[in-house]
Amino acid sequence: ASYDHILAEKRMPETSAKGGGVGLITLHRPKALNALCDALFEDLIHAVNAFEEDEDVGCVVITGSPKAFAAGADISEMSTQEFANVYKKNMFTQWADITKASKPIIAAVNGFALGGGCELAMMCDIILAGSNAQFGQPEINLGVIPGAGGTQRLIRAVGKSKAMEMVLTGNRINAEEAFAAGLVAKVIDSDHLVEEAIKMGFTIAEKSGMAVRMAKEAVNVAEETSLAEGLRFERRMFHALFATKDQKEGMSAFLEKRKPEFTNE
Ligand code: HXC
Repeated sequence: ASYDHILAEKRMPETSAKGGGVGLITLHRPKALNALCDALFEDLIHAVNAFEEDEDVGCVVITGSPKAFAAGADISEMSTQEFANVYKKNMFTQWADITKASKPIIAAVNGFALGGGCELAMMCDIILAGSNAQFGQPEINLGVIPGAGGTQRLIRAVGKSKAMEMVLTGNRINAEEAFAAGLVAKVIDSDHLVEEAIKMGFTIAEKSGMAVRMAKEAVNVAEETSLAEGLRFERRMFHALFATKDQKEGMSAFLEKRKPEFTNE
C-alpha cells in the first residue's frame, strides 16, 4: 500500500529464514515534525496491521526523521475541539490498536518524542534512543495532560518521581537521562540508529515466531496483573510452547550442535 504520511517497506536479511524480515515504518510528515494527525495515525495502524499479516515479517521498527520521531498529537487538529465531541468519539482511543500487534515493535527514536510521540514510543515493545533523542510530556504547557499513556506507561517505566517531574513540569529529558531512568533499552549514535534497530529486528525475527509472540504477551501481562497471576500466565505460556514444532526444532538443533530452522509453527 502507499501512504500519505508514512513510508512502509520490508527489509529481508541476507540469509532469508522464514519470517525473518523486518517491517520498517518511517513517520513522514516533515512540515509538522511528524505531529500525529488522525490521517497519519490511520496510516500507521494500517501499516502495522499489514506487517502483522505478512508472514515474511517477524518484527516491526517504527522510526521518524533525524529531527523528530514525533512532536506529539496534532495541536492544530485539537485546538478547537470541545469536551462533548472528544468524549463522545473517545478521542485517541484508536491509538491503542498499535498495542494489539502480536509481533514485537521497536521504536527507533531520533530527535523529539514529545507528548503523543513519547506515548507512541512507549506503546512499542523496545525503545532505542538515538544520541540526539529528547523525550517529554509537554501537554501541561498546553493546559491539558497526557492522554495516551503518558501518566500510566511512563510511571511504570521510570518510577513515580521522574514521571511526575516530566508530567508536571513538561521538561524534556535527553537520551542519556532516558537510559538512566529506564525508559529506553539503549542509546545508539543517531546516524546508525535505524540500521541498528533493523539489525535488532532481524535478531528477533530469526527466533521462533511462536516463542517471540508468547514472550511479548507474557512480559506485557506483568504490567497489568499481580506477580502470582503473572507467574501462572508465564508458566502456562511456557507449557504451551511444548506444543510447537519450533520447540522440538530449537532443542534438537541445540543437541545436534546446529542452527535451528524455525517455521513459526
Ligand atoms: C502540530 C506541530 C506540532 C504539534 C510542531 N509542529 N509540533 N504542529 N502539532 N504537536 C509544527 C510547528 O507548528 C511548525 O509548523 C513546525 O511543526 C516546526 O515546528 P517549530 O516549533 O517551528 O520547530 P522548533 O522551533 O524546532 O521546535 C520543535 C518543538 C516544538 C520543540 C518540537 O515544535 C514544540 O514544542 N512542539 C509542540 C510539542 C508538544 O507540545 N507536543 C504535545 C502535543 S499534545 P509551522 O507551520 O509553523 O512551520 C499531545 C497530546 C497527546 O501530544 C494526547 C494523547 C494522544
